[in-house]
Amino acid sequence: MSDCCAKQTPVGGALDMTPYIAAVRAHTATGSTPPRCFVLTFGCQQNVADSEKLAGMVEEMGYEITATAEEADLILVNTCAIREHAEQKALSVVGQYKHLKEKNPALIIGICGCMVAQEHRRTELKKSYPYVSFTLCTSVIYRLPQYLAEVIANGKRIMRGEEEHTVAEGAPIRRESTYRASVSIMYGCNNFCSYCIVPYVRGRERSREPAAVIAEVRDLVAKGYKDITLLGQNVNSYGRDRADGYAFPQLLADLDRIEGDYTLHFMTSHPKDATRELVDVMAASRHVAHSFHLPLQAGSDRILKLMNRHYDRAKYLDILDYMREKMPDIAVTSDIIVAFPSETEEEFDQTLQMLRRARFDMIYSFIYSPRKGTPAAEMEGQVPHDVAAARMTRLLALQNDIADAQNAKLVGKTVRVLSEGQSKNDAAVYTGRTDQNKIVFFAEPVPEGEWVMVKIERAAAFALYGTKNENKGD
Ligand code: SAH
Ligand code: SF4
Ligand code: F3S
Repeated sequence: MSDCCAKQTPVGGALDMTPYIAAVRAHTATGSTPPRCFVLTFGCQQNVADSEKLAGMVEEMGYEITATAEEADLILVNTCAIREHAEQKALSVVGQYKHLKEKNPALIIGICGCMVAQEHRRTELKKSYPYVSFTLCTSVIYRLPQYLAEVIANGKRIMRGEEEHTVAEGAPIRRESTYRASVSIMYGCNNFCSYCIVPYVRGRERSREPAAVIAEVRDLVAKGYKDITLLGQNVNSYGRDRADGYAFPQLLADLDRIEGDYTLHFMTSHPKDATRELVDVMAASRHVAHSFHLPLQAGSDRILKLMNRHYDRAKYLDILDYMREKMPDIAVTSDIIVAFPSETEEEFDQTLQMLRRARFDMIYSFIYSPRKGTPAAEMEGQVPHDVAAARMTRLLALQNDIADAQNAKLVGKTVRVLSEGQSKNDAAVYTGRTDQNKIVFFAEPVPEGEWVMVKIERAAAFALYGTKNENKGD
């Protein structure tokens, strides 16, 4: 299933992996059956995309991908550090692997992803998880063959926090889906929102070459992929590190020119960089979905300032209103952090007010989680958990009503849905997503990966229900 077997060429003059790939292949070819690798992923779509690269690389080195840790000879845990809970989950799973290593001393366990870019977590893994063989940071995942070759050759642990300002091209990708794909267009983040660990664990922004992105998307379209998501922590600052002024709106417009039957999504955008030019490109495009994920985080200008977000309520609403004016059918989703340090009840109420005004189709909401090394973790006025939890309950109740009302507007309309096949919970029902990423259930069997027009008959806050309708959309 690997997509591409070109030699990896990290821009920036880093290592050629070919000799290491050969060394690991020599090792994996010794048994009567190929050894197995289990890849476990925590975190955001960037991590999911990275895991597809990890899986592609191990496959290239002669491993077979398996769905269970128990039968694996190599386990790769791709971790997330965004909130304490994400880290604890990963550590607890790694803890459970101790008995697997006892049963199979040849088992290699590697911990990848955002968590291991933090020195204190590496120290913890080194001391308390002696059966972990290596840690591999996100900016050097293309070096997996090197790490593996070294561990296999001398059995020594590699607990490095290696980082590079690199854009590695050509790593094979083992895509999980045959119709939905993501394409990283940039790596890292320069924004240093005061609560966020990402800039510390993923390094500074690096944009891929437009030609590389365009070639990858063209290849996916040619292979029949229908839904392609461009990924970056802040996609609308794509190209800032280039000298020629080529930026995200140009990239989107160039991608839109690719002929084919596909839809483009992108995430995530930062409100401070969301421009009218970008909205205009979307509105004029043939393939860009009318959907926008625009994290608001908080509704109080004072809190937004403390968060280092570089926009206020007015600026946020200005670009939101412009989007809705240009694309009345647009679905807008957002992220909200509840109980940022020193947030008062009144300030939290301002977040609720913004929700009422913005009318998001969906939100992802999080209770603030202090991250070691970020400015917000040191701020006065950390909010007690019971207060935070009560605010979260109110937020969710309000958003539920708003999502209900937003989805109710679609009742009676016919919308295009990309089928995901039979529902996991009920084989008699089929499911899919609209271009706006809304989940739709329908009875007619439509193979996964095919478009279907569905007339919406009923709506709830998180899903739409309808019937296949051959008579196109309205
Ligand atoms: N780059 C994106 C998303 C980053 S992480 C952006 O700028 O919007 C996804 C979401 O996690 C963030 O939008 C934020 O809402 C949330 N998040 C980040 N750090 C957090 C923390 N310390 N506590 C709680 N939520 C956090
Ligand atoms: Fe984190 Fe802010 Fe960067 Fe998003 S933009 S990844 S919230 S620092
Ligand atoms: Fe988590 Fe790293 Fe993504 S911290 S949210 S996996 S960028």
